[in-house]
Amino acid sequence: MTADQLTAIQPASAVPPTSDLLSDVIAGLSSDPRTLPCKYFYDERGAALFQKICELPEYYVTRTEIDILDRNRAEIAAQIGPNIELIGLGTGAGTKTRILVEALEQPAVYIPVDISEKQLRKSAALFRKIFPKLEVLPVCADYLQPVVLPSPRHEAARNVVYFPGSTIGNFEPSEALEFLRRIANVAGRGGGLLIGVDLQKDQGVIEAAYNDSAGVTAQFNLNLLEHINREVGADFDLIQWRHRAIYNSEAGRIEMYLISTIDQTVHIGAREFRFRAGEKILTEHSYKHTPEGFIVLARQAGFDFVKLWTDDARLFGIFYFVMAK
Ligand code: AVI
Repeated sequence: MTADQLTAIQPASAVPPTSDLLSDVIAGLSSDPRTLPCKYFYDERGAALFQKICELPEYYVTRTEIDILDRNRAEIAAQIGPNIELIGLGTGAGTKTRILVEALEQPAVYIPVDISEKQLRKSAALFRKIFPKLEVLPVCADYLQPVVLPSPRHEAARNVVYFPGSTIGNFEPSEALEFLRRIANVAGRGGGLLIGVDLQKDQGVIEAAYNDSAGVTAQFNLNLLEHINREVGADFDLIQWRHRAIYNSEAGRIEMYLISTIDQTVHIGAREFRFRAGEKILTEHSYKHTPEGFIVLARQAGFDFVKLWTDDARLFGIFYFVMAK
């Protein structure tokens, strides 16, 4: 495989096809309460805004995860062991994976799976350059769908799935369990899972992270409407919507909303959706787990807990789990 070849298991595209988007949007706006799927945040502008979010002072998530990984890299690598096949899910530009791979003892294979072809090409080229002995097999696919992985030339001691960024928090608990079960299949007997999970904490810290003072998260949330307007010819008037994130302590999750500022009607093709002033559309939820709760969830998927690394304030956790041999 040459430096810029990708294993495209599904059509290589930065965003899911328009027909899915249209039916998902109509279904979401017809439901009670109204919702829009968070996976449509990530068009080109959305992905760039998310990068900006990761650098915001209030958004502790990315910074804390990188710091935990960096401080514990040797111990994490020792737990994972030598000669592994590393499967990275949604590893993007590869900043975190690079820290991990640098610490690992002679990793054999790296299979990054990401929907963004641009990021994947860039990170695969970089990894091939800095780790010349590592077999890098990028897969351009939506890892939320079942993905068939390529067969590497090198034989590794075991598979280890790496799922950073607390993206697992964007799943409903039942979906998270189903997804962890699929990861367990990929890891296989004796395989491992290294996963970044945002932890429960003071409500004010979480709400500040999703209602940042620079308004970047608001732009990210509103960009969803712009994306929908462009893709399916809807006529959301962005001026008439505002962003707000609210912590739901009962569910243990932060909820992002777009709130209609006036009574208004939005058209999508021949359909009309009426909104009252103050009416909300739920666009994303992000669960914050307790360490105990997450260990139980992973256990239900077949994983045995090995170790949790965290920061002093216990904001974020990096968990390592293994499958029985
Ligand atoms: C991608 N995901 C883990 C982010 C989160 O924190 O739930 C998405 C995000 N939404 C608003 N800010 C960040």
